[in-house]
Amino acid sequence: MFKIKSLLFASLLVVGCLVIKGSSADSGCKLLSEGNYYDFSALANQDSWSILGSDNFYYYFNICAASAKCAVTGTNSAVCQYYRPYTLTFNLGVANQTISPLDNGVQGGSIKYYDGDVCPNGTVRSTEIMMLCGTGNTQVLSVEGVSYCQYLIKMSSPLACPITKPTTASTTGGSGAFSTTGGSTTDQNIITTTGSITNKGVSTTGTIGTSSGRISTSGGIYSNQ
Ligand SMILES: *[C@@H]1O[C@H](CO)[C@@H](O)[C@H](O)[C@H]1NC(C)=O
Ligand SMILES: *[C@@H]1O[C@H](CO)[C@@H](O)[C@H](O)[C@H]1NC(C)=O
Repeated sequence: MFKIKSLLFASLLVVGCLVIKGSSADSGCKLLSEGNYYDFSALANQDSWSILGSDNFYYYFNICAASAKCAVTGTNSAVCQYYRPYTLTFNLGVANQTISPLDNGVQGGSIKYYDGDVCPNGTVRSTEIMMLCGTGNTQVLSVEGVSYCQYLIKMSSPLACPITKPTTASTTGGSGAFSTTGGSTTDQNIITTTGSITNKGVSTTGTIGTSSGRISTSGGIYSNQ
């Protein structure tokens, strides 16, 4: 028991620099951009989102997951188009997305799905889904072909707005120098310091280091126990 405790204690001592990136995305459905934290997985829709395009194709899609409606167009298809009068269907991208910030500091994020069906001249279909932070109901606003076999879908939703921002605090002494009552924070750097954290600088009744990279340091991890 003592051994486990001192191991845990050692792992809690972090000395060095924790660096926060301006914008980052992980393999999930999250984005940290300009201090705003997003988790777009709240926009996942088991029944698929849909919109009828001016080209008379119905477009179906899901957020960061395969779309049930698109299963016929390919395993893991996240976005697809159907031409109803005929049974014409195309896979417009699979759920192996990249997530990036919107331009000009607009709140929300953009998902890019690649590896759809191949067009007649060899271009591989792909789709960008722009998720704009907005009030009111979640709405699919538009779909357009932005260039040959490349599609852009826009949607607006409160679920595309920033959620609990990582907290920053600095204090000079006292107890409980840093605390949060927010939800658990995963896959983001929430403590940034060019100084040091020493002694019992970090304590938790939760878990730390449940996957790789949760604690990073360019210094050492030190324990005197
Ligand atoms: C997902 O995309 C990444 C990078 O584009 C690629 O390395 C990986 O093999 C892809 N995974 C699947 C399951 O297609
Ligand atoms: C396919 O055609 C489009 C439109 O004419 C063109 O922009 C694109 O470069 C072509 N792609 C290939 C791989 O030839």
